[in-house]
This record gives sequence, structure tokens and C-alpha cells, in this order.
Amino acid sequence: MARIPRQFIDELIARADIVEIIGARVQLKKAGREYRACCPFHNEKTPSFWVSPDKQFYHCFGCGAHGTVLGFLMEHDHMAFPEAVEELATRLGLEVPHEGGGAGAPKRADEPLYELMKDVARFYVEALAREPRARDYVVRRGLTPQTCEHFGIGYAPNSWNDLLRRFGGTEAGRKALSETGMIIERERGQIRDGERHYDRFRDRLMFPIRDARGRTIAFGGRIIEAGEPKYLNSPETVLFHKGRELYGLYETRRARTNLARLLIVEGYMDTVRLHQAGIDYAVATLGTATTPEHLRRLFRLVPSVVFAFDGDRAGRAAAWRALQQALPEVREGREIRFLFLPEGHDPDTLVGEEGKEAFEARLQDALPLSEYLVRELSQQAELGHADGRARFAENARPLFLKVPEGVYRELLLERLAEVVGLGPQRLRELWMPGAPAPAAEPPAPAPSRPRTAVTAGRGSLVRQAIVSLLHHPQIAAEVTAAERAGLEASDEPGVALLRELLDDLQAHPAQLAAQVVQRWHDREGGESLKKLLEREGVITAAPAAAGELRGAVARLADLAAGRRLEALEAKSRSTPLTEHELQEFQSLMSKLGHRRGGGA
Ligand code: CTP
Ligand code: MN
Repeated sequence: MARIPRQFIDELIARADIVEIIGARVQLKKAGREYRACCPFHNEKTPSFWVSPDKQFYHCFGCGAHGTVLGFLMEHDHMAFPEAVEELATRLGLEVPHEGGGAGAPKRADEPLYELMKDVARFYVEALAREPRARDYVVRRGLTPQTCEHFGIGYAPNSWNDLLRRFGGTEAGRKALSETGMIIERERGQIRDGERHYDRFRDRLMFPIRDARGRTIAFGGRIIEAGEPKYLNSPETVLFHKGRELYGLYETRRARTNLARLLIVEGYMDTVRLHQAGIDYAVATLGTATTPEHLRRLFRLVPSVVFAFDGDRAGRAAAWRALQQALPEVREGREIRFLFLPEGHDPDTLVGEEGKEAFEARLQDALPLSEYLVRELSQQAELGHADGRARFAENARPLFLKVPEGVYRELLLERLAEVVGLGPQRLRELWMPGAPAPAAEPPAPAPSRPRTAVTAGRGSLVRQAIVSLLHHPQIAAEVTAAERAGLEASDEPGVALLRELLDDLQAHPAQLAAQVVQRWHDREGGESLKKLLEREGVITAAPAAAGELRGAVARLADLAAGRRLEALEAKSRSTPLTEHELQEFQSLMSKLGHRRGGGA
């Protein structure tokens, strides 16, 4: 089996959502920043299984099971490592690279269903070429042949059984068509012409819905001209989960490698026409409201998301629903904006009328989430008097509380306090009685300390350094070569692991604790890393952690130097030192003296 490159494993861990993966298999309940459940690995009545989205790690306090998302798939789904990698990659739309070629991933059980959907999509494309009515409609909707090809747009013939005849000749074929939702079973007594099934999509323009890897997993079908229902979608199937997929995401990622933002619209036609106009970063939810799962997926790709809504009543209602769904996902570093189109327009018609530049100018002016929130709530209350502002506060509170703790929430609190006319502190006390104000960041300790301070808690120095590195692997880069060299002479327990970690992370930077744990999963020290990661306790923010790490490294170096100095001193009492030892002695003296002087 060819090796899977480490960078790829890192990327999987970074992009995967452990809550999503485990949540699909175990019923998770939110508890603070984490999630808990009854452990799937042992029998229990009270939940002791925890999943931490911050650490991308799970842990059971009952049976001790723990690990990363890959470890979970291996243990829970009994997958081999390459299978778990393949599973995650598939979900994220990534192709697993193999160093030095070799065997690919094993075939999966649902492979034939994907093959069938591919053939069905081709069947529809061919049918479009043959049907002038459908071709006319495509032209009238302003779609170019290139766009049709890019999106794989086709046509489902006006027949009850064309698809069935083509792919349902055998029992297995019918079963597959049924499993993918392409045919529907008739009620007893309704069987016609000896056929138990009929085609779901008839006389419709067909939009294949593709997963992130480009495999067709479902279809949306628009009636040609007028009729009800205007759009028909595939049902939920083993391949298709509405609340997760976004129409156009595959095409968007294919068009662009470095995405900065995504535009979320409501319709198939909107997506296709926007791409055609050059706004090739538009995606659509599939006849459902945007789910938090959608947003989590999107924010793994881009830092900025703009929702576009029609200017009518329905559009405004949909926007408000989207805002409520989005609140649990907002935080610093993520931007969510809302664009309201003029009445009577949707993105399809508007971009057709005014073109790319004008449309993008609108995006530029889209309302930030916080402003949209304030605007909506202000319309529900009269802010000119105290009663109205109290009402505003009452309406704002439950929404505000959906926002996770953090910088964004603080800023939102300030903004809301401004409207209410109270100080943010006062509003916090009223809204969250008893909750302490977020503590200010403790100042970073100076990189080196006087030796007297070093002796306190020596045993924890290595551990402290490793914990800092584990939680913020990127700070490895801040340790200088000289500081790192100082560790060579140290023989504190665990320092070998610290040296290895520093070297590995400097050569191959990582962002997440789980990436580091995964790299060490079969190396010496791997278990200790997992244990350290599980230990609860205050986790310092990155800038302070870098200071702590460098401080600990410097103190370890001092300790080793001090010990060496003592040894040389002891030796010099019985035997004269060699020239080389004398030099070392002097350099150690000046180094420690300098440090002591600097630290005092
Ligand atoms: N939709 C649906 N089922 C319907 C109507 C709509 O699933 N019966 C979904 C479709 O995904 C559709 C989107 O909601 O693309 C928006 O619907 P709508 O605004 O009614 O249609 P448009 O996208 O404007 O489609 P068109 O321009 O073809 O009329
Ligand atoms: Mn439309």
C-alpha cells in the first residue's frame, strides 16, 4: 500500500469536523463548548463521552477511549487507516494522494449507485439534445451551451418510463434506481402495463446535484414553462442529504482554487446564471433553509459568506431564518453578510440585466450580520423611548445568546448596548447574571527568568512546553535556533519528545493539536501527547503561549547549563580542567551570568 503523505493527513484533520462525523453516528448533546453522549465504545447509562470541536478530539472518561476523527472512524466503523482517510477525503471532496503510486482505496459498496447516477445524468444530457422544446426553453432562459455542459444540465423526457426502461431492465437495476430516488413505486392496485414503478422526473429541465468530488448524487428538475410543482428534487437517499449539500459547490471549487468568499443564493437558475456571468463563487441551498452544517462546511473553505435574498416578503423571511441559523456559527475571523435584491428580482434576472460589475458592487455593500440584526430588531420596536428600547433588548437577548463566547460576541454586545442606551457591562449583567466579564489576557512572561524561579516546578517545565506546543503548534516557529540548541544538553524527563516535536513542527508546520496527535499516533510519546491534550485546564491564547513556550525552553536550557557548570566546578576541585573544558566553563558562566543579569 502506497503511503499517504503527512500533509494530506494534516489537511484532513484541519478540514474535517469531528462533531459532524461523530454526530452522524452518535447522538451528541451540546454542553458548553463541547458535546457529550453515551459512549459508543462501552455500555453506559450516563454520558461520559466528550467531543471537543476546539481540539478536534474525543474522549471517554468511562472507558478511556480517545483520539482524533480518524481514530474514531477506525474504532467505530472498524475501518483500516487508509479507509478512514478515504472516507473523510470523500466527504471533503479531496482526492487521496499516494506517495509512489500503488493501490488506491478499496471499492465502496455504494460505488454502483454513483455509476448509475453518472449514466442517468448522461442520459438526460442526450435527451436534451434531442428535444427541441427543452432546447428552446434553455435558450430562452439565457443559458449558453458551455454553461449547460459545465453544469451537466439535461432533460428528463416526457414519459412515465423512459428512464426505467433504460436502466431498470433487471431487478438489481430497479433496486438501484429506487435507492437513488429516480423511480417511484406504485401503490398496490395502481400497477399499469405490468410496471410497478414509474420515473420520478418527467418533462423537466434537469440540474444534476454533485457532491464535492463531482459525483452526481441527486437531481433538481424544473418544469418546462409553467406547471406545478415548479421544481422537483430528489428525495433524501443514501447518496444525498439535503441539509449538507450545496448546489454549485463543486463547480465553484472547480472554477477557483483560491476562494475568498462564497455567495449563497436560493435557486438553481440563480447559481447557473451567476456563474455564467462570471460570478463563479455562487452556491445554492436545495429548497431548504441554510443549516448550521452548511455554514460549517462553507467556513472551512472561506472566511466570508454573503447571503443573497429576493427583495420580496418571502425573501426577507428566508433571510431572517438564515440569520437565526447563522448565529451559532458566527465568530471572529468569519464574516457573514446579507444582500437584499430589489423587489421583483432574483439573482438570475438581476445579473442578466446589470452584469457582473454592478452585481459585485452590491455584494460589496451587503449588510454585515450585526447590522442586519440591529436593523430588523429596530423595526420591531420604537427606539425613541425607553419602552421601545426595552423591547428591543428583550428581542435581542435570545439571539445574542446563540452567539458563542468570544470576541465577536463582545463586539455584538457593545453594538446592541449602544442601541439600547446602556453600557455593555450593564447589559451583560442584566443578560447574563453571574457571568464574569471575560478576563483580560495575562501578560506573556519574559522569555527568560532568574534561576530561582526556575527551580519551582521543574518537573512541569517540559510538560508546560509540550502543552503550549500542542495547543498552538504554529508557535514552534517562534523558537529560535539558539533557543532550540539550548535544549540539546537537557536531560529532563520528556525533553526528547519536546525536541522531536519542535523539530518536526518547525520543519512541517501544523495548526491543530489533533494534527500533531495524528502524526504521533504510532510514534513513541504518542500516548503521552493524547493524555496531555485531554487534561483540562486553562489554555493560554497563542501569543501568550509562544511566550510561555520560549520561557520554558530557555529555563530548560538554563537548567542544563547550570548542571553542567556545577559538574565542571566539582571536577575542577580535584583535577585541573582541560583547555576545552575551561572554554566551556567560561562560556557557560557568561551565558548564565548574562541571563541572570537580564532577568533580575
Ligand atoms: N424550490 C423547490 N421546490 C419548489 C420551488 C422552489 O425546491 N416547488 C427551490 C428550488 O431549489 C428553487 C428555489 O427553491 O431553485 C427557488 O425557487 P423560486 O424562487 O421559486 O424559483 P427560481 O429559482 O426563481 O426559478 P425560476 O427562475 O426557474 O423560476
Ligand atoms: Mn428565478
